Amino acid sequence: MAPAPTQGSRLRQITGWTAACALVITVLVYFFKSGGIPTLRQKEFDYLRPPASPPLDPIRPGEKVEDNTTATTGWSFDYRRDSNNYGLTATQCADAFPLLYQEVDRAVNYERRSGNVTEKDVEDAWFQNEAVKVLIYENQLHIINAHGVWTDHNRLRSLATLSALNRALASYHGQLPNVEFTIAIRDNPTGHALAYTRLSNQENLWLMPGYGFWSSPSSGLRSYAAFRSIPISRETDFLDKFQKLIWRGAQNISAGARIRNALIKESNGADWSDVKAIDWKNETSVREDFVLMEDHCEYMFAAETGDNGHNGRLKYLLNCNNIVIAHDLNGIEHFHHLLASSGDNQNYVKLRSDFSDLKKVMSSLTEPSFLEDRGRQIADNARRMFRDRYLTPAAEACYWRALIRGWASVQGFTPQLWDDSEESDRFVGGSDYEERSQRRNWRGMPFESYILMEEVEFNLSVENRHICVGSQTTFQKTI
Ligand SMILES: *[C@@H]1O[C@H](CO)[C@@H](O)[C@H](O)[C@H]1NC(C)=O
Ligand SMILES: *[C@@H]1O[C@H](CO)[C@@H](O)[C@H](O)[C@H]1NC(C)=O
Ligand SMILES: *[C@@H]1O[C@H](CO)[C@@H](O)[C@H](O)[C@H]1NC(C)=O
Ligand SMILES: *[C@@H]1O[C@H](CO)[C@@H](O)[C@H](O)[C@H]1NC(C)=O
Ligand SMILES: *[C@@H]1O[C@H](CO)[C@@H](O)[C@H](O)[C@H]1NC(C)=O
Repeated sequence: MAPAPTQGSRLRQITGWTAACALVITVLVYFFKSGGIPTLRQKEFDYLRPPASPPLDPIRPGEKVEDNTTATTGWSFDYRRDSNNYGLTATQCADAFPLLYQEVDRAVNYERRSGNVTEKDVEDAWFQNEAVKVLIYENQLHIINAHGVWTDHNRLRSLATLSALNRALASYHGQLPNVEFTIAIRDNPTGHALAYTRLSNQENLWLMPGYGFWSSPSSGLRSYAAFRSIPISRETDFLDKFQKLIWRGAQNISAGARIRNALIKESNGADWSDVKAIDWKNETSVREDFVLMEDHCEYMFAAETGDNGHNGRLKYLLNCNNIVIAHDLNGIEHFHHLLASSGDNQNYVKLRSDFSDLKKVMSSLTEPSFLEDRGRQIADNARRMFRDRYLTPAAEACYWRALIRGWASVQGFTPQLWDDSEESDRFVGGSDYEERSQRRNWRGMPFESYILMEEVEFNLSVENRHICVGSQTTFQKTI
């Protein structure tokens, strides 16, 4: 049996514990005062540090803002690190893509000259078919109305565009202005709307990034970023590519028949030609002749056949590190002003709009002396300008946010989340209570629900919702 501890030994024990505790506390205090493990503290500091000042947003797109991102970190855009960063700050967007916002600036100037966008302008744009009216309120996307977007490729276009817009909002840490506008899904819309493509005289159309920047599965593309990763990972040297002109596509689609037939005719029989029409209804033609978009990058030359409608092919080709051959493009997309057909910065080769000079141009382009020098330079210029900068997913998100800010700067009305004009009286809690309650109507549907329901009325019964499960939807092949 152990002897009972004496008064003295208990005292010594307590003193011992107290000393040990004091020592541990002293060591801990010293450790944390001196900064703990230096690297760990540094990391936490970097992640947890609040911004020096609240992020500011430029009124004009592309304008530099004093959020000091560049000043504090010496940040500059590196495509290997930043290409897929959808959440660059306003300053980073301005620094990385100084030439990106020209179409937004143009539209802003146009609306300013004609006296701001009114609520009626937005209504008018909305009234035409195949459009989605949206509200961005406190950085949240709401779908106010949708029309003619459930069939064929319209469904693909509208869901892709809304998702891309939401991605640009959700990735952003700053505050964006509240805006309300109409997104035109079809080609050649009219009114003050956002559109994929415009003709030079359609000044009240605001160009938005094509839906293919999200994904274009009907053209064999998983997503835009996934597509880009393939040519980037292969990185074939320009001179090692097939010395041929590649083009594949449906021949007689309404918008592009003239130009497509011209290309097929002018390249017929040439030894540099790998131009073929695909008949999507003919299984043999699809199986034997279809070429994946990323495999277009294995060729030295790739042809673009855009017409008035939205074609979408050009942005893929410009990711290739090869020479894009195009005609005079009628339909303008948000990045077309960056194309240069001459000079030191030349980044594509421009032909007549009937391709009648194709044979002549191809014979000079395929000269070995041209390819090694000027040819390689054109391909390099295109890669640097488009693949490594202005056609990155990061640039796409920056463009969306500049578009929102630009629109807000000429928006002559204040967007509302609640529809107060139609305040409804409803009975709440059944007839026993007959409690009258003033309820405000929530306008539209948050994106998060719309993307599941594809419906803007929340109170519809489930059967009435436009849920599309594959069957009847056949996408028109436009590539
Ligand atoms: C940004 O940095 C500059 C120089 O480092 C400083 O003078 C300025 O006050 C800073 N602005 C803000 C908003 O923090
Ligand atoms: C497309 O149109 C051209 C010219 O009109 C015609 O020669 C060709 O047979 C048509 N192709 C198909 C697949 O209909
Ligand atoms: C289908 O395409 C193949 C390959 O291009 C072609 O040989 C064949 O004639 C086409 N069939 C029809 C019915 O057009
Ligand atoms: C145009 O709209 C902007 C932003 O709402 C506003 O600041 C400006 O005063 C308006 N200009 C005119 C002429 O109404
Ligand atoms: C749903 O609500 C809207 C507005 O609150 C109303 O106009 C519409 O008639 C309602 N639909 C149904 C099926 O109750």
